[in-house]
Amino acid sequence: MKIYLETMGCQMNRLDSELIESALRAGGHELLDEPSEAEVILYNTCSVRKHAEQKVFSRLGAGGRRNRSGTKVLVGVLGCMAQRLGRKLRRRFPQVDIICAPGQLHRLVDLIDTAAAGGPAEALDPQRNDKGDPLCDAQIDKMDASRDPSVGATRSQAYVRVMRGCNIFCTYCIVPFVRGPQRSRDPDHIAQEVRRLVDAGRSEITLLGQIVNCYRFCGGGRTTRFCDLLLRLSDTPGLRRLRFVTSHPLQFGDDILEAMRDLSNVCEYIHCPAQSGSDAILTRMGRRYTRAQYDELVDRARDIVPGVVLGGDFIVGFGGETEADHAASADLIRRSGYKNSFIFKYSPRPGTAAAKRFADDVPDATKRRRNAELLAVQAEVGLAHHKQYVGRTVDILVTGPSPRADKLPKKPSPDSTQLAGRTRGNHIVVFDGPESLIGQYLDVTIEAATALTLLGRRCVS
Ligand code: 5AD
Ligand code: SF4
Repeated sequence: MKIYLETMGCQMNRLDSELIESALRAGGHELLDEPSEAEVILYNTCSVRKHAEQKVFSRLGAGGRRNRSGTKVLVGVLGCMAQRLGRKLRRRFPQVDIICAPGQLHRLVDLIDTAAAGGPAEALDPQRNDKGDPLCDAQIDKMDASRDPSVGATRSQAYVRVMRGCNIFCTYCIVPFVRGPQRSRDPDHIAQEVRRLVDAGRSEITLLGQIVNCYRFCGGGRTTRFCDLLLRLSDTPGLRRLRFVTSHPLQFGDDILEAMRDLSNVCEYIHCPAQSGSDAILTRMGRRYTRAQYDELVDRARDIVPGVVLGGDFIVGFGGETEADHAASADLIRRSGYKNSFIFKYSPRPGTAAAKRFADDVPDATKRRRNAELLAVQAEVGLAHHKQYVGRTVDILVTGPSPRADKLPKKPSPDSTQLAGRTRGNHIVVFDGPESLIGQYLDVTIEAATALTLLGRRCVS
C-alpha cells in the first residue's frame, strides 16, 4: 500500500520511524513524501508536552479522510500517544484504525493488513506494573537488527538504540509510563548493528537512550557498563565518530569522561539536561541531584575532557517556581557555558506525580516570559561559546546542504552551494563548497560565529 508517515518528537521517535520505514518497505509497502495519494497515514507521536499531543489531535480532527483517488484512508496512531491513551483515542476519534505502542512497532505490518481487512488493529505495551513480556523486547530488537542501513536522514550518520524506557520517574515526565521500564540492549547486538551501519557508510553513530549513562547489561558472565560499551564500539573499523544522547547528571562517572578523553572516536559533546538551577525545584522534580552536584559534574567534565562541549534542557514555570528559582536557572546556564539549551514551558502530564501533587500555578504569561528570558541568556552564552572558535580550524563531517541554501540570493549550483557540517563538539558549521563534499570529513577555518552556528571557509591544502 501507499503509506505516508509523519514523525513528531524526539530522536528516539526519529529512529523508530526509520525502523518502521525499513519494515514497511520490506513488507512490500511504498513510502510517500506527501500525504495526498496515501492509502495509509501513520503518525508517530510524542506525549512529552500537551502541545505535541494537540498537534496530533488537530490532524485527527480533520475527520474521515479520503485520498485523491477517493478511497478511504486508514489512519494509524503510533508511539507514545498510542500507549498513553490506548482505546480512549478511538472513542474520541472513531476514524483511527490502527493503534500501536512504542514497544509493539514490530507488529505494525500485520496491523496494517488487519486494518485493511476491516479488523481491530491495536497493539499496546503492558502497563508498567504488569509483568513485562520478555519476548516482546526480543521481537522488537529484531527490528533494530534487521533495519535497512540505507534508510536515514543523512548518508553518513545513524542512530542506534542502546536502551529503552526509564526508571528515574522525574515527577513531570510521562516517559517512564509510555516507554516502560529501563532495559539495556545486549552489547553483542548493539556492536553488530553498529558494524552493519558503518560498513554501509555511516561513519558517525549516535547511541540513543533516555539516560544512556545508566546503561548496564548483565549477561555472558559479566556486566557491561556504558563506558565498557563505548570502549567496545570504539574499536569498530571505519567508525569515525561515536556520540551519545541523552545523559542524566546522576551516575555520570569519571569512567565515561575518561573514555571520552581517551577514545579517539568518542566525541566531546555531552547533552546533560539540568532542568532547573534551583535546589527547591530540583527536589520537587525528583531529579535526585542538587545544584552543587550538577556544578561539580560540569567542573569534572571540563577538568577531565579538554574542550568538552555541553548542552542542556530546562523547564520553566514548573509548579511553585519563584523568580528566585528562575534566576537560579539563568545563573546555571551562565555558569555551565552551554553550546545550546532547549527551554520548555512546563506542561503537566496526566498521571505523573507532579500533576497529582503540585498545582500548575505559574501563569502562562509568566512561563512565556521566563522562557524568553532563558532563551536570551542562552543566546548570549551560546554566542560567547561559539566565538571562541573564530580563527580556529576544526574537523567537520559534511552532512548536507545548509537548510538555508535555497533561500540565498545567489542560486546554489552543484559546484558551490552553502553546505552544513558538524564538529566533534556537535557545532553546526556553514561554509561554501561543492555538493560532492557531502559525507566527507574536512578541515574548515572558522571566520565568524552566531549564537547557534559557526561560519567557516574550507581549508585548501
Ligand atoms: N513539560 C515540559 N517539558 C518537559 N520535558 C519533559 N517533560 C516535560 C513536561 N511535562 C522536557 C525536559 C526533557 C525534554 C525531553 O523535555 O526538559 O529533558
Ligand atoms: Fe523523563 Fe527523567 Fe527519565 Fe529523562 S530521566 S526520561 S526526564 S523520567
